[in-house]
Amino acid sequence: MGEEFSILPLELDNVSFEAGGKRLIKDLSHTFETALRTVIIGPNGAGKSLLLRLCHGLIGASAGRIVWHGAGDRDPAPYQGMVFQRPIMLRRSVAANVDYALALRGIRRRQRPVLVDEALVHTGLKRFARQPARLLSFGEQQKLALARVWALKPQILFLDEPTASLDPTATHTVEEIIAAFHAAGTRIVLTTHDLGQARRLADEVLFLHRGRLLEKAPAARFFAKPGNDLAEAFIRGELLWWRRGIDRREKPAGEKAID
Ligand SMILES: Nc1ncnc2c1ncn2[C@@H]1O[C@H](COP(=O)(O)OP(=O)(O)OP(=O)(O)O)[C@@H](O)[C@H]1O
Ligand SMILES: [Mg+2]
Repeated sequence: MGEEFSILPLELDNVSFEAGGKRLIKDLSHTFETALRTVIIGPNGAGKSLLLRLCHGLIGASAGRIVWHGAGDRDPAPYQGMVFQRPIMLRRSVAANVDYALALRGIRRRQRPVLVDEALVHTGLKRFARQPARLLSFGEQQKLALARVWALKPQILFLDEPTASLDPTATHTVEEIIAAFHAAGTRIVLTTHDLGQARRLADEVLFLHRGRLLEKAPAARFFAKPGNDLAEAFIRGELLWWRRGIDRREKPAGEKAID
């Protein structure tokens, strides 16, 4: 935000990730363009969190390439933020948690208080500023995680199920904060199990299943009629277990094995 250049687009070219002798992400290619909000959906264990971690550079690809096309010679890491499903708070005050994130980023001490204040106001946490972060409720901790990245003004923000354990009011607030990031020019990439949230926030949808990207589509088209039948079953709320080939004879005629 505020810079002339962008590290985007982000291209994944035939990316695979292996661990424990298993291929957990399989030949995944996608370009995250500059101006879209991407929502990644798929069943538990599909590889959504791994995909975010690969994009954010927390784990390395076993094969394929991950390229930040706009970064040039710059390290893309400082221009990215990530919010995890379970936020990790320092044993310090709410304000000190945000301050620490800024200090880590090398922002000078005298510049930090105003940025901390702005981030806390923005996320509705100002009244908790002096309180120990560990005393915050789960939903408030998630907002603090957002306040920490807000202060850093990332060009792209990865969010892994940011509202998974939140009540409807807290979910709404977090969605508003995400919308504010978007309005301020931050690229959003988010995973969710909340299909209503996916409809509200997505410009494009990626559907992952068992480590494969089975569909990518503009959100309106995806929700009107997914092209992939597993994606369609998923958004209808049908379980996918019977398609795993537990008993291949029971598969509907014409169904193709997916791996
Ligand atoms: N380091 C690892 N070693 C072995 N297996 C792993 C490792 N990390 C993840 N996995 C496996 O990879 C698969 C994908 O995991 P991932 O956490 O990305 O799924 P997910 O789509 O985020 O699921 P959920 O919706 O439950 O969060 C899972 O089966 C998981 O057990
Ligand atoms: Mg996950």
